[in-house]
Order: sequence, then C-alpha cells, then structure tokens
Amino acid sequence: MLYLQQEKVQAVRVLVCVRVVCLRGLCGDGRIAKMSKRGKKTDDATADVEQDNGAAPEAKKAKKGKEPEAPVLYEDPPDQLTSKDGRAANTKISSWNVDGLRAWVKKKGLDWVREEAPDVICLQETKCAEKSLPNDITSMPEFPHKYWAGSQEKEGYSGVAMLCKTEPLSVTYGIGKEEHDKEGRVITAEFPDFFLVTAYVPNASKGLVRLDYRKTWDVDFREYLSGLDERKPLVLCGDLNVAHQEIDLKNPKGNRKNPGFTAEEREGFTQLLGAGFVDSFRELYPEQANAYTFWTYMMNARSKNVGWRLDYFVLSKALLPSLCDCKIRNKAMGSDHCPITLHLAI
Ligand SMILES: *[C@@H]1O[C@H](CO)[C@@H](O)[C@H](O)[C@H]1NC(C)=O
Repeated sequence: MLYLQQEKVQAVRVLVCVRVVCLRGLCGDGRIAKMSKRGKKTDDATADVEQDNGAAPEAKKAKKGKEPEAPVLYEDPPDQLTSKDGRAANTKISSWNVDGLRAWVKKKGLDWVREEAPDVICLQETKCAEKSLPNDITSMPEFPHKYWAGSQEKEGYSGVAMLCKTEPLSVTYGIGKEEHDKEGRVITAEFPDFFLVTAYVPNASKGLVRLDYRKTWDVDFREYLSGLDERKPLVLCGDLNVAHQEIDLKNPKGNRKNPGFTAEEREGFTQLLGAGFVDSFRELYPEQANAYTFWTYMMNARSKNVGWRLDYFVLSKALLPSLCDCKIRNKAMGSDHCPITLHLAI
C-alpha cells in the first residue's frame, strides 16, 4: 500500500539517469569538480569544514609532486525490488545527513526527496530549531506526519527529523537516558511491523575529546536498541559516525587515530552487530569497496571519491527476509553526506 508511486518513480529515475549520463559525457570531470567547489563555498560557515579526515594522504603526495592516483568512483547497481524469497518491495525508507537543513533546502535537497519519494525520510544534523524550519519542508504535503528533535542547549547543533507518509502508531524522542537526550539525536517511530529509529551518533571529535563519551553512548544506545528489538524488529538508520571496516573508507591506514575510525568506535559497531543486528549494505554487498556516504568538503574529496561509509541501515536479524536492497545515492548533492535508501518487502 505504501508503494503506489513506485512505477512512476522508477520511470522518472530512468529518465534522470539518462540525463546525468549525458551531462557527464559532455562535461567530463570538470562538472564534478565544479560541484564540489560550489559545495565548499556555500558551507564554509559550518564547523565541519575544519575536518581533516579522508584526504590528508592524497594531499601529501600532491605536495611531493607525484601524479595523483586516478579516482575510483562507485556507481550503485539498479534497485533490487524483490526480497530473496521473491516478495515485492513495499516499504521505502531514506536517510540523509543534511549538514544543516536550511542550507540543504536552499541547495534543492527537497527536489531529491520528491523524486525519490520514500515512505519515510529521516534527516540528521538538521542544525535548526523547530521555530526556524523553512516553510518548504514544514508544509510538504507528501509527508503529513513530521517529527523534529533539536538540541536543547545549543541552538543550531545536531538535530534529527523523521517525515512519514503514514502515521506511526507512536513516536518517542531520545533513548531514555538524560545524559544522552539533550542533543536531539534520536527519534523512534513504531509502525505495525517494525520500529524505525533514526540517529545522529555523537562524533568522537577533534583530538578524540569526546571518545570517552562516545563509548558510553555506544553501550547505552545498544541497550536501548536491544530493548526495542525484544518487542518488535527494528530498522536503525542514520549517521552512525563510524566506518566499520577498512573496506568502509578510502584511507584506513591514515585514519586509525581519527574520529570515526578508532578501534573503540569500530568495536562499538561490532558489538551492536553482535547483539543481533545486521549492516544491510554489507550483507548484500560484502566485497564492495569504494562505496561511501561521506566526503570532507576539503581537497575535492568527493570528486576523487576519497570518502567514508558512515550512514547505515542496520536491521534486526528478524527483518533479513524482508531485505530487498540498500542503496547509496551518491549522485545526490546538497550535503557532505549523500542519502541512502532501503527497500523492504514487509
Ligand atoms: C567529526 O569531527 C571531526 C573533528 O572534530 C571532523 O574532522 C570529522 O569530519 C567529523 N566527522 C563527520 C562525519 O562530520
């Protein structure tokens, strides 16, 4: 029932793909480079520009005057719209770390949402108080049920949102622990067949100053998810701020001491999977390298595909038979992350 629009959407997507291919053919790399530059310029004001993960080793090479490596790009295969046991996908969920909702709306992020037409769109790092949300999104008729969580103390920091076509049975905010629930990082919606949790997991931060806090978070968040999973299977999506394995980022060697790829954060994710959950993308594409969802704005990391896979759909094992596909929409611009989409046959 949630899937009425699917055929139309597929048709639109084919057209869009053809158009993108043509543009690429005409303009070559120049077009990609221009896009990153534009992205950088408009986002200089955000704190996230001060990040060094991803591209550093490349830059050193460049200084020594060596030929930079040819970028290895990644293109998602076409959407798989049936489950392994042959049931048709009927539920589509998208997730995007928008790195500032207002800027993302100005950069036409909502055009992508309309074209993708998911049943639920989850957004992270909205960095926007509810009263300052742009009308373009608050009035969106496609999603009559909209839920917002923002930081209570620091305005314009963190924040997540969930926009739904059908009304959830119930919606809760946070994970039930005061020390974690002031930064607007988690929304949980209960649907008839599953819980949907969207999360913006705290960054361990420069100098790993928040790594200890992050370790506490990882334990408490895992407990929260396990508690839900006992009641009903769940889908967790969002920016989990960790690249799990070496295959999940371009430069594993250079980033072992950087936020997002420390042994502690990786272990936290391993433990989450150990608690009965599955990384849906890795489940479907165990050997797929170069598939990233985040690129620093610096050093043209995105056009060189020097990135990290930080955004996930994690599923309760009980939902595995429903899994059709997990997509990385890395052509969608508007943030330093790209959106991801999950297809389920519920
Ligand atoms: C996390 O924070 C560090 C430094 O504070 C930054 O370099 C990094 O890019 C951040 N990660 C993401 C995904 O924004």
